[in-house]
Amino acid sequence: MSVIVAPSVLSADFAHLGRDIDMLNGSEAEWIHIDVMDGSFVPNISFGFPILQAIRKQTRKFCDVHLMIVQPERYIKQFKDAGADHLTIHLEGNVHLDSVIREIKAQGLSAGVAINPATPVSELKEVISLIDVVLVMSVNPGFGGQKFIPNALNKVRETRDLIAQAGSKAKIEVDGGVGLENAGSLIEAGADVLVAGNAVFGASDPVKTISAIKNAAAK
Ligand code: DX5
Ligand code: ZN
Repeated sequence: MSVIVAPSVLSADFAHLGRDIDMLNGSEAEWIHIDVMDGSFVPNISFGFPILQAIRKQTRKFCDVHLMIVQPERYIKQFKDAGADHLTIHLEGNVHLDSVIREIKAQGLSAGVAINPATPVSELKEVISLIDVVLVMSVNPGFGGQKFIPNALNKVRETRDLIAQAGSKAKIEVDGGVGLENAGSLIEAGADVLVAGNAVFGASDPVKTISAIKNAAAK
């Protein structure tokens, strides 16, 4: 199976959001990555339910919602009602991680757990069999357009090993600074889903760039 490309709308033009979602609808991107930030878990504030609802109205693609917020358990039902297909929560600061994952699944959504650059893959051990996605952060979360942290490649390999040991079906998603220059190595390391914000929306031909990321071979 080829890699799934998940463009991050954080880098879209919000004054022309409908146009940008239509562009994604006509592209090879299977997922749309939606970054929710609360100014507390991360230093930045992005957007919430109204934007997700607007995106949902405009697309049938898989809405992959990345929650960079404290106490995400407060909003699971609301994100589902706003149109999320999938919720990723962060491992960091989530004291009751197991129960939040179960709550997301109980709502009929798929569930992911994200790990920041300083969080070891081994901390996923007890939840790896429960989740659908591991999101390996390849930048410190909060902003689009940051530089890729190369150690993420090792973490993708470690995650692949952990998944194999546990017999888990989780997909490996990589988020932050991903583009044509590292897509091939990430795919080779075991990535199943590549998030790309700046690389897609900053390109002169975003549709072509999505296709090129999807078909990237290791350099
Ligand atoms: C960062 C977000 C990312 C971001 C990726 O906190 O989680 O999804 O939008 O943007 P690029 O691809 O520009 O690094
Ligand atoms: Zn993200």
